[in-house]
Amino acid sequence: MDKIVIEGGTPLSGQISISGAKNSALKLMVACLLTDAPFELTNMPNLRDTRFLGQLLENFGVQVNDGVGRLSLHAKNLTSTTAPYDLVRKMRASFNVLGPLLARTHKAKVSLPGGCAIGARPVDLHLSALKSMGANIELDEGYVIASAKGGLRGAEITFPFISVGATEHAMLAAVLAKGETVLNNAAREPEIVDLANCLNAMGANISGAGRSEVIIEGVEKLGGTSYAVVPDRIEAGTYALATATVGGAVRLLNVRSDHLGSLWPLIAQAGAKVTMDENSVLVERHGTPILPVDVETQAYPGFPTDLQAQFMAMMCLADGVSIIRENIFENRFMHCPELSRMGANITVSGREAIIRGVPTLKGAQVMATDLRASASLVAAGMAAEDITEVGRVYHLDRGFEQIEVKLGNCGARIKRVSE
Ligand code: EPZ
Repeated sequence: MDKIVIEGGTPLSGQISISGAKNSALKLMVACLLTDAPFELTNMPNLRDTRFLGQLLENFGVQVNDGVGRLSLHAKNLTSTTAPYDLVRKMRASFNVLGPLLARTHKAKVSLPGGCAIGARPVDLHLSALKSMGANIELDEGYVIASAKGGLRGAEITFPFISVGATEHAMLAAVLAKGETVLNNAAREPEIVDLANCLNAMGANISGAGRSEVIIEGVEKLGGTSYAVVPDRIEAGTYALATATVGGAVRLLNVRSDHLGSLWPLIAQAGAKVTMDENSVLVERHGTPILPVDVETQAYPGFPTDLQAQFMAMMCLADGVSIIRENIFENRFMHCPELSRMGANITVSGREAIIRGVPTLKGAQVMATDLRASASLVAAGMAAEDITEVGRVYHLDRGFEQIEVKLGNCGARIKRVSE
C-alpha cells in the first residue's frame, strides 16, 4: 500500500492548476444514462472515484472511453439495470444511478450504500423523492427494487432538510418525468448548478438551480452533449488553506473564486492575504502568526464540511483558541486523534472541537481516515517539523488528482512511497 512521506518546514511557492470537481463529475457521469446519444465530459479529473464509477457504468452496458481530461460515455443500449453491492458499497455516489435508470427504463435494482466513516448517511430523502414521482420502491436483502409503470411523473417535493445528493438525485429523475417537478428546500451548491446546466445542454428544462426552489419541466427525450466540469472548489480551498497553514505564496489557477465566498474572509481573518483576479487567486502568508478563527459548517453558501478538516489543521498552529462546529455530518472529526499524534491540542465534545493552538507540530506516522481528513494531515505534515508519513493514501486518491505532484511543484518535500 502507498504512503505519502513529507519532510515539513518548507514554505510553499508556485502555482497550482485546479482540476474539475469530483463531486460534480460523479453526478454528470451518471447523467449519461438518460440518453442513448454520445455524451462527453471535458475538464474531467482523473480520480479513483471517477474511474470506479466508470466501471459501474460499464456494468450497465455503457461504452466508456477515457482520454486525458476527457471522458466519453455512450449509453446506447442498457444491458443491465442492476447495481450490485460490491460496486455501490465502495462509493456512495454510485447510488445516484437509481433515478436515471428508473427514469429511462422504468425499473432498477440498486444496492443500498450503507454507512461510511463520516456518518450513517441514510438515503431516505432520495427514496421518498422518487416515491413522490410515482416510483414503487421495495427493499429486499439490502437492495432497492424500484419500478415506475408508465414512467415517473412530476411532483412537488419539499425536503425536510438540505441534502446535496437527494437534490441531485431528484433532478436526475425528474428531467424525464411527465409534467412539472418542484423541489423546495433544495441544496444550492455549485455542483447542483453544474448538473442542471449539463442536463439543460442535453435538452432538459430546469430553472432555479442554485436557489432553494428548483423547477423541472419533464421532457420526452434527452440528447447528447459535450460539457466542461466546473473547477473543484474543495480542491482549491484545500490548497488555499494549505498555503495559509504552511506559509509562502501560491497562485491557484482555473479556480471559481465566487464558489468559495465563505472561505476567503476566514482565511484573511486567520492572517493570510488573499488576492483575486478573474481566473486566479493568490494566497500568501509570510511569517505573520496564524490567528484563531471560529467556524461552523453549513450547506452552501455556508462554510463547506469538505474543508472543515483542512481548516482545523490551520487552527492547530494558531496563536490562541478556536472552536470548530460540524453541523452536516455526525462523525466527521476522525482527523482529530491523528492531528493530536502530531502534537495538536484538540478536545472534541459532540459536534464541537476546541483547538488550542500550539507553536509547532511534530512529524509522526498518521493514518488517512477519509478523503478530506487525509488532506488535513498532508497540510499539517508540510507545516510540521521533521518527517510525517500519511498511510492509507487510497483515500486521497479518491478525490485529489496528483496531490504530491501539485504540492511538490510548489516546493513541498513530499513523495509517494510504495510499501
Ligand atoms: C455530498 O454528499 C458530497 N458527496 C460530500 O462530499 C459533501 O460532504 C456533502 O455533499 C455535503 O456537502 C458527493 O457529492 C459525492 P448530503 P451527500 O445528502 O450528497 C443526511 C467528499 O469528501 N442525509 O447533503 O451524501 C446526511 O447523512 C464528500 O467529497 C439524510 O439523513 O451529502 C448528512 O448528514 C464527503 N438522508 C446530511 O443529510 C438522506 O437521504 C447532508 O448530506 C440524505 C442525506
